[in-house]
Amino acid sequence: MVDLKEQYKKIKSEIDVAVMKVIETAAFINGPQVQSFANSLAEYNGVKQAIPCANGTDALQIAMMALDLQPGDEVITPSFTYIATTEVIALLKLTPVFVDVDPETFCINPAAIEKAITPKTKAIVPVHLYGQAANMEEIMKIAVAHNLYVIEDNAQAIGSKFYFSDGTMKKTGSIGTIGTTSFFPSKNLGGYGDGGAITSDDDQLANKMRMIANHGQSKRYYHDIVGCNSRLDSLQAAVLEVKLNYLDQYIDARRQLADAYDAAFSGHPKIKTPFRAPYSKHVFHQYTLVLEGIDRDKLHAYLAEHNIPSMIYYPVPAHRQKMFSQFNSSSTELPVTDWLTERVISLPMHTEMDEEQINFITSSVLKFANQ
Ligand SMILES: Cc1ncc(COP(=O)(O)O)c(C=O)c1O
Repeated sequence: MVDLKEQYKKIKSEIDVAVMKVIETAAFINGPQVQSFANSLAEYNGVKQAIPCANGTDALQIAMMALDLQPGDEVITPSFTYIATTEVIALLKLTPVFVDVDPETFCINPAAIEKAITPKTKAIVPVHLYGQAANMEEIMKIAVAHNLYVIEDNAQAIGSKFYFSDGTMKKTGSIGTIGTTSFFPSKNLGGYGDGGAITSDDDQLANKMRMIANHGQSKRYYHDIVGCNSRLDSLQAAVLEVKLNYLDQYIDARRQLADAYDAAFSGHPKIKTPFRAPYSKHVFHQYTLVLEGIDRDKLHAYLAEHNIPSMIYYPVPAHRQKMFSQFNSSSTELPVTDWLTERVISLPMHTEMDEEQINFITSSVLKFANQ
């Protein structure tokens, strides 16, 4: 689905120098690269504070820990997402309340959020799925009206922009109370191992999250609150600092590939190309088709036979996962989520694709669809 070797080759000289510097100085943990990357990330994302941590799942967990949520408090989240978004809610003994997504954007449906609010609701976790921003204008209106926290799961959408109706723009991850992201290698900004970050404009909250990520420590060996150990290591920070300079270029390459896919599938009666919401700059972490009247799983197998990777994100929605059986969530009616789960398929999407590869992929999909 991605070609990280080719991507590395193009920036090898810069990466190698940055990595060797960490090794030669042996500052593997909390080296100067970590703070430097945090500063660069905050600037890129248009936020006051960025806190690097070990991965995107920890970022969500630390964010929720910092908000002092109590066991049984309800957190509204889409079910149509990667499991991490929802898992940390249950891990912290909070109650996930699964709501449906918009059939066009695949992101959480603001109307469904409104309906799910109860006196126990404390937070909303929108996910900017596949690289497209959730409708943050509507979500923030609801959050303000009901005094709810908003944690943006920006793992798939770093670099995406949200355009508000008053003409202003904000990067995803900078709109809610807290933003979280992941630097898993295949992400739009991917490290050479695990990594994640938390972003916020709230200095006090950011300090607390920084403490939580470091054993609740206020100064060395003084632990004021219960925390965890979640560090981005210096090697990852060094790699990410180099790659951050290329992120917008990578996003452009992804968008160009999406345009080429769109053109190839345009007007096909059985293939629905990704909708691009006018309020969002889609950064195409995934290029995901919705198939109607085509056997999705057979297409997946057919592509594999022709050495074309494709993925189903995700074959089982969160509310139907066994891990949530205690919440009886599989009885929740989420028709759009269930409908999409059976019909979506994601095609290879990365920064290094050439025309021949694109033609091979699109012609193979079309051959199957037209048979
Ligand atoms: C939407 C979403 N949230 C959270 C995560 C978790 O990130 P990580 O794998 O870095 O823990 C991911 C990563 O796949 C993701 O796609």
